[in-house]
Amino acid sequence: MSFVEFEDVRKVYRTGEVEVRALDGMSFSIERGELAVIVGPSGAGKTTVLNLLGGMDSCTSGTIRLDGRLVSAMDERALTQYRRHDVGFVFQFYNLVQNLTALENVELASQICRDPLPAADVLAQVGLADRRDNFPAQLSGGEQQRVAIARALAKNPKLLLCDEPTGALDYRTGKQILGLLQTTCRNTGHTVVIVTHNLAFTQIADRVIRVREGRAASVKTNLHPADAQTVEW
Ligand SMILES: Nc1ncnc2c1ncn2[C@@H]1O[C@H](COP(=O)(O)OP(=O)(O)OP(=O)(O)O)[C@@H](O)[C@H]1O
Ligand SMILES: [Mg+2]
Repeated sequence: MSFVEFEDVRKVYRTGEVEVRALDGMSFSIERGELAVIVGPSGAGKTTVLNLLGGMDSCTSGTIRLDGRLVSAMDERALTQYRRHDVGFVFQFYNLVQNLTALENVELASQICRDPLPAADVLAQVGLADRRDNFPAQLSGGEQQRVAIARALAKNPKLLLCDEPTGALDYRTGKQILGLLQTTCRNTGHTVVIVTHNLAFTQIADRVIRVREGRAASVKTNLHPADAQTVEW
């Protein structure tokens, strides 16, 4: 059994008379410790995959497993625990609390989970040891995204889910963040899933899942993924 499994997952959104098949038989798997990139055009269903995998929404049919647990069968109560303890999220816009320092933002996340890593250590790990007492407004976009990554990692999650994590950043900073996610995956053994429309990101992935119209059009593994620093786009 793989660490992450999607089996024939369907997600239908109904708004009045209109039905949107966001996922239409999505199947793929990801192994523990891999850096997986989910790539595809706008509207292909990438964010829907992350929302289901992150327990923020439920699928219409099919099965979703993480580490042997059937996420797709969890009730609301179980999903709340799952979101708190098992998954960390990084979004395009960092969503930091503006009146808390970098360190406090990371501590905030640790407070709701069972087995957090020390906030100061995780901030040091993302290269921000000397900026811990700064407020978000005093940090650059890339630094704020580092805080958001530290916040997600401090929960010591089984899975780190990133939706367009470089979307709000310039080229150079985006590359640094991509590098940070790659080294985090390699050095800490976290399983990392990055959703993007940027095909260049596929070069750094252990596993590439291409999605189109709510399905996995192909799943490929890279035996020798490129270093994020060497990738150009
Ligand atoms: N809450 C919702 N209600 C209705 N339709 C939705 C909802 N969320 C997503 N959809 C639709 O489902 C489809 C897939 O959306 P999704 O956000 O997963 O795409 P995406 O691949 O992340 O796109 P993008 O690259 O633009 O972020 C789209 O047609 C979208 O309009
Ligand atoms: Mg999206």
